[in-house]
Amino acid sequence: MSLRLPFFKNKQTDTKGHCEIEVQNVPKHVAIIMDGNGRWAKKRGLPRIAGHKEGMNVVKETVRAATKYNVEILTLYAFSTENWKRPKSEVEFLMKLPKEFLHTFLPELIEKNVKIETIGDFNALPAHTKEAIQYAKEKTKDNDGLLLNFALNYGSRFEIIQAIKQIMTDINGSTLSIDKLDEDTFSEYLYTTGLTDPDLLIRTSGEQRLSNFLLWQVAYSEFWFTDVLWPDFNEEIFHKALQDYQQRKRRYGGI
Ligand code: FPP
Repeated sequence: MSLRLPFFKNKQTDTKGHCEIEVQNVPKHVAIIMDGNGRWAKKRGLPRIAGHKEGMNVVKETVRAATKYNVEILTLYAFSTENWKRPKSEVEFLMKLPKEFLHTFLPELIEKNVKIETIGDFNALPAHTKEAIQYAKEKTKDNDGLLLNFALNYGSRFEIIQAIKQIMTDINGSTLSIDKLDEDTFSEYLYTTGLTDPDLLIRTSGEQRLSNFLLWQVAYSEFWFTDVLWPDFNEEIFHKALQDYQQRKRRYGGI
């Protein structure tokens, strides 16, 4: 199989000095906290929204890289439940991005067999945002390549509270027995039901915190941080993250 950086069985490097990616050990699920758009814009004397716009273009490049490396699920933190606190104009801009992204990129996503999904409180999004995403979900629902999963209006604590409320309702209604409640059953009540947990969590911009992202799901994920601001992220850096991931020994508490 031919990747941008060729696959060598014995850990050789390619002509640019890059180490190869082991095709068998690519993380199935990569989750990314795309941080640093505002600082990227500020450094250039631009308004914050210019950073978000460039960040959207980088999402396209990242999706291309993820499909190339056969990542199965790419979960992108695009808007948190806390992001509503930002200035109205910035929130409005962020809410228009999915439509703009899909307007230009949906044909390529379809061509690449990508399926679009979201996690988060979808109903509370503006109608125009919901409509654009719903259309893309519908158009890609039968695709079985990369699952491109946008965390939109997502907050992990909210997700967990919602799960607990539903579990209580189901126990009270006798559709769930308390003895049956274990980690797997709990996971089924989260937005990520049916998805494997992230193998690799990437955060850009030098910050090293989770910011209410997938708190339950990243219990055994490998974390990878870079000082690079999200609009400067690219395939090369993604490749480096995958390479570093492949050096990790995942023991899940064992030895
Ligand atoms: C955090 O950076 C970034 C966000 C809150 C928005 C992320 C959104 C994108 C990258 C575009 C998403 C694209 C689609 C298609 C939905 P920040 O603004 O907090 O940066 P700062 O910490 O430097 O201020």
